[in-house]
Amino acid sequence: MAKVKTAYFCSNCGYESPKWLGKCPACQSWNSFVEELLQPDKPALSGISRAARKPVQLGKDPIPEVSRIQLPGSELNRVMGGGLMPGGVTLIGGEPGIGKSTLMLQLALDSRLKTLYVSGEESELQIQQRARRIGIQNENCFILAETLTQHIITQIETLQPEIIIIDSVQTLHSRLLESAAGSVSQIRQCTAELLGVAKENDIPLFLVGHITKDGSLAGPKVLEHMVDTVLQFEGDRNYVYRMLRTIKNRYGSTHELGIFEMTSSGLREVDNPSEILIGQHDDSLSGTAVAATVEGIRPLLIEVQALVSTAAFGTPQRSSTGFDNRRLNMLLAVLEKRCGFKLASKDVFVNIAGGLRVDDPALDLAVVAAVLSSNNAEPIAHRYCFAAEVGLTGEVRTVSRLDQRIAEAGKLGFERIIVSRHHKVVLTESPIEVIEVGKVDEVFRLLFT
Ligand code: TYD
Ligand code: MG
Repeated sequence: MAKVKTAYFCSNCGYESPKWLGKCPACQSWNSFVEELLQPDKPALSGISRAARKPVQLGKDPIPEVSRIQLPGSELNRVMGGGLMPGGVTLIGGEPGIGKSTLMLQLALDSRLKTLYVSGEESELQIQQRARRIGIQNENCFILAETLTQHIITQIETLQPEIIIIDSVQTLHSRLLESAAGSVSQIRQCTAELLGVAKENDIPLFLVGHITKDGSLAGPKVLEHMVDTVLQFEGDRNYVYRMLRTIKNRYGSTHELGIFEMTSSGLREVDNPSEILIGQHDDSLSGTAVAATVEGIRPLLIEVQALVSTAAFGTPQRSSTGFDNRRLNMLLAVLEKRCGFKLASKDVFVNIAGGLRVDDPALDLAVVAAVLSSNNAEPIAHRYCFAAEVGLTGEVRTVSRLDQRIAEAGKLGFERIIVSRHHKVVLTESPIEVIEVGKVDEVFRLLFT
């Protein structure tokens, strides 16, 4: 093999150096040098040497129909925008231990297609044990414990699989670079090599990437622009529910969401998440309220729990699980200022049941209702649920997809839903009673007097 040359470039200003440097002499930024491959045999960008391509007139030729590869499970199919695209490259990120390897192995076993599962993290024996745990037999699933991309590509070429899974990109390394596996330059280089093979042979490729605590796809972040689809697998490790979200999709919508349950024999798809999430909801307890949220395009009823108690120390505690803490502080400030609640000397805890993390602003009113209910020690009666945002002046604001939320609430047996007065949807044939409010204090009077 010809000797390959690499150099280090500042990722901030592009300064080139033959050695790694801690500080860039040009732009003074720290720790910005990454190793990159130098390809002297490649013509310079300006030199036109390879066959030049011609512009194509859009809409002139009929577009060839590409048939997607259908997977047996409906959740993954939906999240991918309706099946796998041939040659489509998907990055699936998630915290360690959330279940990425399980999801991928299950896909390999379930699909009945010839699948190559490359693992750089676990031995063949470990994967076999996991496959036994999942309990699906598939002779078409091949496992390979390898991390060198050149070897992986050789195996892909001999095996000619229909799906390739790489677990994970952080363990890959390419012979062409000297830097350690997991470094940004290795991750980028290895992905580029595998991506080329996948696109050339029209094989769907899945790349697993670990994300860091703060939630960003560290390392793999640099891959987001290279791949076609980015999925994020999230959830609380202490709970059984997992959400698979689309962050980017060149072949479909990014509003899709898949919900799974981790069982003793792998992941199970959850078709009716609302029923499970509010299954333990007890109407006779104070401090709980149900929010009609929408994740992506999926309506989801979620139980919000709150506990308000007298602060034992000088500074009251405000803590929330599954809900933005700053948002909670804001809602409490609104209650304090606009509705006259003396919450400043109270500890307030908020928890979203099921360990899910939801960013829908429609949770606001349910959080407020749960806090008020706990503060008054009065349960929320009559199977109410809530779908509205709360603004800084205490106004109740409308949220998107109201009809969908109302339909879901009706389906699950709720009798009343509290929404904003300012919605734009015509709600003539609503299955349940829709109560419209304009201010937070109206909600209080409605619920507790
Ligand atoms: P894993 O897929 O290895 O996570 P990741 O690849 O994202 O790091 O598995 C995560 C957890 O799932 C692990 O702690 C064990 C658990 N698990 C089950 O509960 N049931 C199962 O059938 C399997 C295979 C794993
Ligand atoms: Mg893993």
